[in-house]
Amino acid sequence: MCGIVGYIGQAGESRDYFALNVVLEGLRRLEYRGYDSAGVAVLTDGEISFRKKAGKVASLEQEIERAPLPDAILGIGHTRWATHGGPTDANAHPHVVDNGRLAVVHNGIIENFSELRAELSAKGYTFVSETDTEVAATLLGEIYNNEAEGDLTRAVQLTAQRLEGAFTILAIQADHGDRIVAARRNSPLVIGVGEGENFLGSDVSGFIDYTRKAVELGNDQVVTITATDYTITNFDGTPASGKPFDIEWDAAAAEKGGFDSFMDKEIHDQPAAVRDTLMGRLDEDGKLVLDELHIDEAILRSVDKIIVVACGTAAYAGQVARYAIEHWCRIPTEVELAHEFRYRDPIVNEKTLVVALSQSGETMDTLMAVRHAREQGAKVIAICNTVGSTLPREADASIYTYAGPEIAVASTKAFLAQITASYLLGLYLAQLRGNMFSDEVTGILESLRQMPEKIQTVIDHEDQVKKLGQDLANSDSVLFLGRHVGFPVALEGALKLKEIAYLHAEGFAAGELKHGPIALIEDGQPVFVIVPSPRGRDSLHSKVVSNIQEVRARGAITIAIAEEGDEAVNAYANFVIRIPQAPTLMQPLLSTVPLQIFACAVATAKGYDVDQPRNLAKSVTVE
Ligand code: F6R
Repeated sequence: MCGIVGYIGQAGESRDYFALNVVLEGLRRLEYRGYDSAGVAVLTDGEISFRKKAGKVASLEQEIERAPLPDAILGIGHTRWATHGGPTDANAHPHVVDNGRLAVVHNGIIENFSELRAELSAKGYTFVSETDTEVAATLLGEIYNNEAEGDLTRAVQLTAQRLEGAFTILAIQADHGDRIVAARRNSPLVIGVGEGENFLGSDVSGFIDYTRKAVELGNDQVVTITATDYTITNFDGTPASGKPFDIEWDAAAAEKGGFDSFMDKEIHDQPAAVRDTLMGRLDEDGKLVLDELHIDEAILRSVDKIIVVACGTAAYAGQVARYAIEHWCRIPTEVELAHEFRYRDPIVNEKTLVVALSQSGETMDTLMAVRHAREQGAKVIAICNTVGSTLPREADASIYTYAGPEIAVASTKAFLAQITASYLLGLYLAQLRGNMFSDEVTGILESLRQMPEKIQTVIDHEDQVKKLGQDLANSDSVLFLGRHVGFPVALEGALKLKEIAYLHAEGFAAGELKHGPIALIEDGQPVFVIVPSPRGRDSLHSKVVSNIQEVRARGAITIAIAEEGDEAVNAYANFVIRIPQAPTLMQPLLSTVPLQIFACAVATAKGYDVDQPRNLAKSVTVE
């Protein structure tokens, strides 16, 4: 939801006068956060120059080629996901005000922008865009020239105090060629610390090419960076400090590495994502260690309800986790979309454990749900993939997923890593509360340990699924059916297809079919069915096989995702995609993978941009 980058170096250093290149590189890496329009501003010899353009960063680069910018040691940039005002050149950032002396980029939504706009209009200011950002920039200019008496840091502090909502703002002023000043409230910002140069980014990918040292900025803080230093304060100007951390992945992890798309690469990263998420959490004897859970064991023992909050794909990971957590811990577990949870007056108290799942750690809906839960006395455990993001800072404890950077907008490896981490949490609670014997826990951990290799086997057979994707690319709609843990997998398969292939898709609980959705089946309707293990519990398997028969009998093209050796599906499935044998609860880590590959193949066959689907952004930092 908008990517922001800032760079300041110094003359005579290695990247002397290459601010523009550094900023553009950062924007390319942050483009997954929004790609409606992009812009940069550089400051040279007391003059601000800028270019901005509707469309992707590539359009901005073309514009700069047409009308070059001067060399500079200081620059800011922005790639936008439109909120106030459509994706036009005028609405693109930076917003340059005060007779070209002040440039601002912004991520977030300023909720009181109408009142501020009216106030500034009454003072004679005029606006050229429809954005809340231009209002903030104009207010900053007014404060800079009056109350702050030309002190840029002070002006940003005072402006931040007047803004409501969520925002990260970066400001440069023509008379201050040695600094960038930024403010942050409920919207991400990280400082990158270099040698003789410093950076700002919505996340570390904005400067990963140049430094592995970063500092997390707290909420309601202002930072002033120069080439050699950074100073953090609260909005009221009192000194504050950030939290330094080392970035554990390198620039190569944020590259496509020979794959056609980031999504394709990230699908292939999944064995490593699961392996790395398990790593360090199983000791030499295969026993579970979760040192990061700094919540009093007595509190965890007293928990009488778990609520998992998340959005989109992360919520489906939560739905998978619920089956495991309830089964292992015998604690009633609910899964709720974070935005629904937040606004429905949920029953939450100090015996409730809220588990928040988020790849980015910046999803505003999830953050709001977490804040609400903590206000009611609940403890919150975050399962998150992004070090330095807001969610882990606000939670009582965090379990990181080590999936590495996920750049494609459609989530893949984060989903598998979220399931893995939630399972570790479930096993830890079961162990702590005495619901399982330690050899039972060890047995399940051993199954988890085998999953990366099995996921690799599914990936090794991707050609069959890719071919199917090409063959079915012109379908009008695709349906997905599953029971038990296969149900959220079906939902996830449908979501992937909607978001990147713009294809109507629905996931259903297979048992629900006869209660309505079966009416959708007509000749040639593709239906994916996630088939549970025939070795699993109850009679789930035979019920799902009956569901395949039911849709096939009505003309559907049936595609079964079934275990090796499950021959019962052969008679009713037009296509069978095989996955290795695994216990029922482990199956989502396998059965999801062909659905991701399928969606990617359909989108590719239709010629769509797999990594940056229309209307979407990677990190949804507005409610
Ligand atoms: C779908 C997808 C989204 C995210 C959702 C939550 O492929 O990526 O549905 O899962 O926006 O994002 P995080 O996990 O960052 O909170």
